Amino acid sequence: MIVDSHGRVVRYMRLSVTDRCNLRCFYCRSCEDLQSIPHDHILTYEEMLSLAKAAQQMKVEKLRLTGGEPFVRRDFLAFLGMLREDCPDLDVRITTNATLLSGKVPALKHLGVKRVNISLDTMSPAKFQEITGRDMFDRVRQGIDDCLHYGLKVKINVVAVRGVNDDELPAFLDFARTHPVDVRFIEFMPIGCATRWKGSSTWKSSEILADATKYATLEPLPRSRETDGPARMFSIKDGQGHIGLISPLTNHFCDTCNRLRITSDGKLRTCLFSDKEFNLRKVMRHPKLGPEAALRVMRLAAINKPIGHELLRQKINNQVCNKVMSSIGG
Ligand code: GTP
Ligand code: 5AD
Ligand code: SF4
Repeated sequence: MIVDSHGRVVRYMRLSVTDRCNLRCFYCRSCEDLQSIPHDHILTYEEMLSLAKAAQQMKVEKLRLTGGEPFVRRDFLAFLGMLREDCPDLDVRITTNATLLSGKVPALKHLGVKRVNISLDTMSPAKFQEITGRDMFDRVRQGIDDCLHYGLKVKINVVAVRGVNDDELPAFLDFARTHPVDVRFIEFMPIGCATRWKGSSTWKSSEILADATKYATLEPLPRSRETDGPARMFSIKDGQGHIGLISPLTNHFCDTCNRLRITSDGKLRTCLFSDKEFNLRKVMRHPKLGPEAALRVMRLAAINKPIGHELLRQKINNQVCNKVMSSIGG
């Protein structure tokens, strides 16, 4: 088990399987000059598998596969099969935009995936197109329904942006009331394509909560386990689902942060906002080093995980780090 120098137990690893995505969400990958990572820098599935095994050796319990969009990478389902075979102790979860789930949910279930987090920022097809640049709302809705039909647990991630989706709170509450899903509002973070974030686009979690109580009776839920994500969760009276608030701007959760991130080109980041990276790809591909050495680097990096970030203070050029979200994996 890895306990970092601030007493936090590292139980959670996020692994981005690709930086590519079939959507262009304005808060993530809408920059015109965005370059994709060259293919030969992207970790092979075998390399990812050896990092997952290293995580398992470090007693990481939860592995979240993210993107970009994980399902745009070829043979992603086969990779899930490899993981299931070689890392049976890892609780493998996926964060997806759900546009490519059609027909795949039974296979996911068969491969032992029990939980998916789905990004959806609006209940309106027209607005979906404005936010993501693509006309794929119906696919996402179908993806959510398929997951629920096959008994997967679904969390919906809503990036909360003033002037974009703050008029849709009743619609989201209604969705959580009528579906067994967790709808989580994430404060819009100044990361990625630098020009899009403005102070005035902040829709704070506290404001969301205050607004939500006008439409529903909410009760705070206790945090269940340390492997739970950063959200504060609430039940809705007479509702099947819950709502949640993720507040990286106004109430950051660094003191309980239990996670490591690996980008699709094999860079270990110990904090979402810190550009200090450990190049595991180089270590793994070095003729004299390899997976054992990568495990040693991971252990050392994890132990020295920074205590936290000061998001707004360190903002440079209107963003907090050099990478866009899709290349870090959220
Ligand atoms: P669960 O295990 O289901 O709770 O997952 P999660 O919330 O950790 O994963 P998900 O990919 O759904 O993440 C939701 C979003 O919350 C992320 O993409 C980020 O936008 C935000 N988030 C998650 N972890 C962190 C973190 O460590 N720091 C910050 N600032 N934001 C985070
Ligand atoms: N601010 C907040 N959340 C973001 N995401 C992507 N970019 C941002 C941002 N700038 C969210 C996506 C997805 C998760 C992985 O990260 O909506 O659900
Ligand atoms: Fe793609 Fe997710 Fe980024 Fe949207 S937020 S562009 S779906 S990686």
